[in-house]
Amino acid sequence: MVTGLKNPPTDHAGLLAWVAEVAELTTPDQIVWCDGSDAEWKRLTSELVAFGTLEPVPAKPDSFLARTNPNDVARVEERTFICSTNPEDAGPTNNWTSPEYMRETMTDLYRGSMRGRTMYVIPFCMGSLEAEKPMFGVEITDSAYVVISMHIMARMGTHVLEAMGGDAEYVPALHSVGAPLEPGQSDVSWPCNDTKYISHFPETREIWSYGSGYGGNSLLGKKCYALRIGSAMGRDEGWLAEHMLILRLTSPEGKVYHITGAFPSACGKTNLAMLEPTIPGWKVETLGDDIAWLRWGEDGRLWASNPEYGLFGVAPGTDYRTNPNAMRTIEKGHTLFTNVALTEEGDVWWEGMGEPPANATDWKGNEWTPDSEGLSSHPNSRFCTPIKQCPILSDAYEDPRGVPIDAILFGGRRATTIPLVTQARDWTHGVYMGATLSSETTAAAVGQVGVVRRDPMAMLPFIGYNAGDYFDHWIGMGKSADDESKLPSVFYVNWFRRDEDGGFLWPGFGENSRVLKWVVERLEGKAEAVETPIGFNPRPEDIDVEGLDMDPNDLAASLKVDPEEWKAELPLVEEWFTKIGNRLPTQLWAELDALKSRLGVD
Ligand code: GTP
Ligand code: MN
Ligand code: MN
Repeated sequence: MVTGLKNPPTDHAGLLAWVAEVAELTTPDQIVWCDGSDAEWKRLTSELVAFGTLEPVPAKPDSFLARTNPNDVARVEERTFICSTNPEDAGPTNNWTSPEYMRETMTDLYRGSMRGRTMYVIPFCMGSLEAEKPMFGVEITDSAYVVISMHIMARMGTHVLEAMGGDAEYVPALHSVGAPLEPGQSDVSWPCNDTKYISHFPETREIWSYGSGYGGNSLLGKKCYALRIGSAMGRDEGWLAEHMLILRLTSPEGKVYHITGAFPSACGKTNLAMLEPTIPGWKVETLGDDIAWLRWGEDGRLWASNPEYGLFGVAPGTDYRTNPNAMRTIEKGHTLFTNVALTEEGDVWWEGMGEPPANATDWKGNEWTPDSEGLSSHPNSRFCTPIKQCPILSDAYEDPRGVPIDAILFGGRRATTIPLVTQARDWTHGVYMGATLSSETTAAAVGQVGVVRRDPMAMLPFIGYNAGDYFDHWIGMGKSADDESKLPSVFYVNWFRRDEDGGFLWPGFGENSRVLKWVVERLEGKAEAVETPIGFNPRPEDIDVEGLDMDPNDLAASLKVDPEEWKAELPLVEEWFTKIGNRLPTQLWAELDALKSRLGVD
């Protein structure tokens, strides 16, 4: 018997049986129950430095850089599976295999896959431990990089295991990098496997991941649990698991609003969540930058909480000009960087962070100068840092109920067509906006960059069931509200519209506070808008641009509703709805018909 099964730190029989079963299958050298302590962090980071997986970042306290295998840098959507019994339940937007097929295939891969390695058992909780029903998980992994990343990203360790007691329900999440070591074989700095599977069993609430060490594929509490499995739980239990930031906005009069925003990966959630308003007297506080769980409050309103404990942000483009609060968060240290450059001075650098250093080591470990051909950092390089270090973290962050939502923003990255901001007519129209959300693809997932695709509610890669059922659940959430006036108002934003020369029309970042101001003033009935075929839109004079040095033509162009562009969008939406098929709610076809007739198309 491998050590670690004797004297385990829990008497949870189900958990012990699962750990024993996985150990028997994967045959690790030893089992370590992760306690989440500082000593564990120190031990594992030192070990990883010795192995060459991590390099210290001396310019920042207790911070490290990981360079991944160049073939393991992003989420692998093509290798992500929803394994429901009935393929219809996974729907047309997910890859599907039967649970039996996937279990058989992956059991073969897992057989002996941890040979020569340590198997870590990570008890974790997504969301507050004080929640009415804490959302426990246990990740088993053979990657120490995953353990230290989970230290940052989730509440984990002994206190969670204790809270689980002897019989708590939990989501079992199994991860192996798929790189067993033969006796005497030396390890590589970033073990992984060319064969990758990120599999979800929504009916039994299980996650099996194999072959990748990259965060989105390996930190299984995040996308796999909090979004894919979470969305399936939410459908069954009457709540929503969403790819959303959460922020608190306070007006100069001291009025407090809470806004969530769903933008696809690498489209500005982390930036907006930590925004520094450029308009005087307005204040933003952060609650979450990637995932929100939306549940009904006792007051009949929809409340949002952030199940995560850290920030896993896109590094390139982050600097004191665009996202000063992210920089201040990182500056405090205890941060893991992945695939960024390291300067001669021992600090991190990436594209978009001011002047490039004269000399650096790039993300592949090669010498790099500003004259080098390639990028210093991978476009999907990341910082992983404790959310508690964020200087503008809201004091409501730890509240298990979350915060009541006033407005939901949907947004994508579109060079044309989509105006800076549009308010939906009502909840169902808002669901239509979310369901037809489109965006140009980014480096956050493997594949071609810059292609327009539908990304409903920014959840295309994360809906754990049939997308038609998911839209129906959204519409149903609106219907189950005891009072429609208590529902959040929905807005559609686009920070990424471009002029003929390819430049952004809207300055974005801190200036987005001007859009937030219009949003909350709409809620108050203070701001003006005009009704257009696509919803309620501001005129240039409705946006506060005081102190903003901006060409009025650019502002007008960023706000413009161009019927011709919208007509060109119609067949794409029709194609999309047809693809969703017979589970698409009829209300959404009715919304499309209504839009057509408002545009004068029949
Ligand atoms: P994930 O963490 O992958 O889910 O993505 P995210 O939505 O958090 O994206 P993030 O905030 O990290 O933004 C990524 C990219 O969008 C960076 O290149 C930013 O510079 C850019 N970006 C963010 N906000 C704006 C904006 O208002 N305007 C423009 N032009 N770019 C922006
Ligand atoms: Mn994300
Ligand atoms: Mn982010």
